[in-house]
Amino acid sequence: MPDRRLLRLNKTHKPARLTRRQLLLAGALLGFGGLVWETEHLVVTRHRLEVQGLHAPCRVVQLSDLHRSWCVPENFIARVVSCTQRLNPDVVLLSGDFVTSHSSYIASCARQLSRLHPPQGMYAVLGNHDYRCDQWQGAPAVQEGLQAVGIQMLTNRSQKLDCGLRLVGLDDCETGAPDPDAAFGRLTPGEPLLAFTHNPLLFDVLCGFPCVTLAGHTHGGQIYIPGVTPLFMDERARYLRGWFQKPQWPGRMYVSCGLGTIAIPARFNAPAEIALFELVPA
Ligand SMILES: [Fe+2]
Repeated sequence: MPDRRLLRLNKTHKPARLTRRQLLLAGALLGFGGLVWETEHLVVTRHRLEVQGLHAPCRVVQLSDLHRSWCVPENFIARVVSCTQRLNPDVVLLSGDFVTSHSSYIASCARQLSRLHPPQGMYAVLGNHDYRCDQWQGAPAVQEGLQAVGIQMLTNRSQKLDCGLRLVGLDDCETGAPDPDAAFGRLTPGEPLLAFTHNPLLFDVLCGFPCVTLAGHTHGGQIYIPGVTPLFMDERARYLRGWFQKPQWPGRMYVSCGLGTIAIPARFNAPAEIALFELVPA
C-alpha cells in the first residue's frame, strides 16, 4: 500500500500546469492590456517640409479626431494638450471630429484645447461626427463651443499667417459642403499654401492644388490588422494613413491616425497621433 502522506506530498509539490482555459484567459488579458496601452499611448510624428515663399520657419501641429465621448475621457484630451504644448507649435490645426454622438461633450473638449496658445492661432474644420451628432442638429453647438475658446473656423476659406503661409480649410466631403473655389479663391500666385480637411477622400479633388493637405477621419483603421481591417473600411481604405501623392498631380496629402476612438475604447497597430510639421523656407 502506498503511503497516503507521500501521495498528498507528491500532489502538493506537483509543478503547476496551466489549463488551456487559463492560457486563453491569460492571452486575452495580455491582448486587452496591449489594446488599452496603445489607446493611452501617444505618438508624435515629425515631418519636415521645405516650402517656397515662406518668410520664416513655422511649426504646425495637427490634432485630429479627438472624439470626446464616453470612451474618450477629458483627461486623455488633457494629455494630448500637454504633449502639444511641449512641441511649441506656432499654429494648431484641428481637422474635425471633436465629439462622437453628443455635442454636450464639446465644452470639456474645448476647455482643454483652450490651454493651447500658439502665437499664430488655432484653426478648425468640422468632421462627419460633428455634423451627425444630436441627430444631425449638433454642428452649430460644436462650432460655437470651439469659437468660444478662440478657435477660428476655417470652413471653405483661408487665412494668411505672419510667416507668409496661407492656411486653407475645407468642409467635410461626406457630411458638409466643400467648396475648393471659395477656399482657394483669395490666393496670390506663388503664395505658400497648407490645406486641411477632415475626410481624405477630398484629395481626389485637392490633388490638383499645389500644396500639402492634412486630413484625418480614418483613425488609421483604429484596430488595424493588415489585410483584414481594410476589408471593412470601404473607400476609406484608399487613404488610410501616411503620405499620398498621385502621379502627375502637384498636391500631396498626409493622413493622421487621429487621437480618440469610436465604438470601442481601443486601438491596435494604429497609435494615437500628434503630427508635427516643421515648415522651413525652401
Ligand atoms: Fe473620426
